[in-house]
Amino acid sequence: MIILGIESSCDDTSAAILEDGKILSVVTHTQNEHIEFGGIIPEIASRAHLKYITAIIKQALTESNKTLEDIDAVGVTHGPGLVGPLLVGVNTAKGLSYSLSKPLIPVNHIEAHIFANFIEHDKEISTPFVVLVVSGGHTELIYVKELGHYELIGKTRDDAAGECIDKVSKMMGLGFPGGKIIDKLASKGDTKFHRFPRGMSDSLDFSFSGLKTSVKVFLEKHDQEFLKANINNIAASFLDSVTDSLAKKLLKAAEKYNCDTVLLAGGVSANSMLRSKLDKIVKSKKMKLFYPSPKYCTDNAAMVAMTAYKKFQLHPSQAGSALDVEAIPFLRLSE
Ligand SMILES: Nc1ncnc2c1ncn2[C@@H]1O[C@H](COP(=O)(O)OP(=O)(O)OP(=O)(O)O)[C@@H](O)[C@H]1O
Ligand SMILES: [Mg+2]
Repeated sequence: MIILGIESSCDDTSAAILEDGKILSVVTHTQNEHIEFGGIIPEIASRAHLKYITAIIKQALTESNKTLEDIDAVGVTHGPGLVGPLLVGVNTAKGLSYSLSKPLIPVNHIEAHIFANFIEHDKEISTPFVVLVVSGGHTELIYVKELGHYELIGKTRDDAAGECIDKVSKMMGLGFPGGKIIDKLASKGDTKFHRFPRGMSDSLDFSFSGLKTSVKVFLEKHDQEFLKANINNIAASFLDSVTDSLAKKLLKAAEKYNCDTVLLAGGVSANSMLRSKLDKIVKSKKMKLFYPSPKYCTDNAAMVAMTAYKKFQLHPSQAGSALDVEAIPFLRLSE
């Protein structure tokens, strides 16, 4: 079965071709139009998706040596996300599905982040597991008893971890988005340089706004020369706090729900400190930890194609007619 996956929920225009569970090509265009604003501007994002989406799909087909006529189904992110960007992907997918008379499989973006793990570990992952979805807009702990059944067991009460990282990066004058930059600086810094607070120790919920304020106060208290000299140490100490909270809650959730398999998903799961901390703990506890390769952590259509493929295998009847699929900005995982 050959699936064309399309992703356009935020600022990445992406298309991928998957054949029988194997990714043949994935082409992603990350919009740099937003850098000067330090955040995503929805109108600019929608227009950029429109400008690039056809070329991106064509390139994904060329790189996989397939043509549109080879496609058996189209999978598309239909939420959650920004409505304008979603409409571009959904309507492109609808047009293709309708004209090719092939089924259209609507995909939840967060489910796709989770299923990114199956691109490289399909045979190894078994349910039940707990997954930490940690991205630009989400920080959620989800208990997955079986594929397709999601129980939200913890979430952020304020900022998402990626949002906090991006805001701190901006405060430190490092640019947007900040995850990759702070990750790199932190790898050369000392985590013991300064102890920033860890939020919400008792529950499975997260909080990052106190940490964000604490970094702001720290930055205001010190002069530019000191901050410049210690930029790596500040990045390392800040990420130490973020990753401590994330790792601790994931393990707590696994224990509570009696799971020896845990997964990471979403852009922040590319973070090297988070991965190495969890790698060590999981090894000592004889648990199994999975995370996608960095290229599949941030938004991409390979994860959308994979989710569409799995959904089609599990519930062939859920593949809809092109005319039924809608863009749903606040789509929830269980819907
Ligand atoms: N190596 C890294 N370390 C830490 N954070 C990272 C890293 N790479 C990317 N990020 C962060 O990941 C986030 C982007 O992830 P993703 O593309 O999954 O988010 P999104 O699609 O904008 O949000 P959502 O998936 O919740 O709708 C950004 O906040 C970015 O800074
Ligand atoms: Mg995302």
